[in-house]
Amino acid sequence: MLVTNKEILIKAQKAAYAIGAFNIQNLESLLAVVDAAAEERSPIIVAVTPGAIKYGGLNYLARLVKTAAETMPVPISLHLDHGEDVETVKKCLEAGFTSVMIDGSHLPIEENIALTRRIVDISHQKGVSVEGELGRLAGVEEKTVEERKAVLTDPREAEEFVKRTNVDALAISIGTSHGAYKFKGEPQLDFERLKQIRERVEVPLVLHGASSVPQWIIEKATKYGAELAGAKGIPEDHIRKAISLGITKINIDTDLRLAFTATVREVLMNSPKEFDPRKILGPAKEAMKEVVKAKMRLFGSSGKA
Ligand code: G3H
Ligand code: 13P
Ligand code: ZN
Repeated sequence: MLVTNKEILIKAQKAAYAIGAFNIQNLESLLAVVDAAAEERSPIIVAVTPGAIKYGGLNYLARLVKTAAETMPVPISLHLDHGEDVETVKKCLEAGFTSVMIDGSHLPIEENIALTRRIVDISHQKGVSVEGELGRLAGVEEKTVEERKAVLTDPREAEEFVKRTNVDALAISIGTSHGAYKFKGEPQLDFERLKQIRERVEVPLVLHGASSVPQWIIEKATKYGAELAGAKGIPEDHIRKAISLGITKINIDTDLRLAFTATVREVLMNSPKEFDPRKILGPAKEAMKEVVKAKMRLFGSSGKA
């Protein structure tokens, strides 16, 4: 069934587990994530970025997800990830999205508040949930204390942002970043900052850039020719701790991309005579599905549908 982010996140927040938001771009990635949700009996957020929309087409992707929601026995939310402007959000509302993110994190705070408030107004009229973002997801390892402060979410600003925008969920920056190269040295998240934000903000908190970049996938991809030296993600015990301190939505894209790529490489290398796309993409879809199932168990959402 098709649900809003708010519906499944509030339930998760009360019971102290997290819901995964998994990025899709095509039929294979969609089938991987919804089949995983059905097998794990987990609610799921299917996330679509503007880049994915450009690649797959808004209506194609929206209809695929809505078809899954009509047929799958688990709650599925159709979510715009990193929405950039009012136009994109309006198109997604028309296409039947149940949740939108407006990412004004690069803007000065007053402009971020004004843009987010406007998105909340037009989305809430249609019963659609809104996620805002405060703080920027940049690598923070080599930054000075002052530079880190400028990038990571300020707890007082977070409180004000939520009050003034009326968002349903808030994405925060505590040291994660997008992609496969999150840390040069030891992985480090600012859990103290997360605690302080949690004390001031009631709505569900969101962790972007949360892929773990599992070593076994890097090894498999590398064995079959990928160049991924230095790839490093968020350790699973950091994810568990973040959930225990109040993170309720966790965004995963990179780990799915890595699982896909490693498996396509493996099939092509081991079966050089193969040219049926189903025999190449099928195993890659299964690999992504296994990654998603493991995330659902880690996040505690398995069995909650
Ligand atoms: O933040 C989400 C993604 O990992 C970036 O996705 O390449 O579709 O913009 P994109
Ligand atoms: P990763 O790059 O860590 O998978 O993060 C994805 C994300 O935040 C999508 O919004
Ligand atoms: Zn993100």
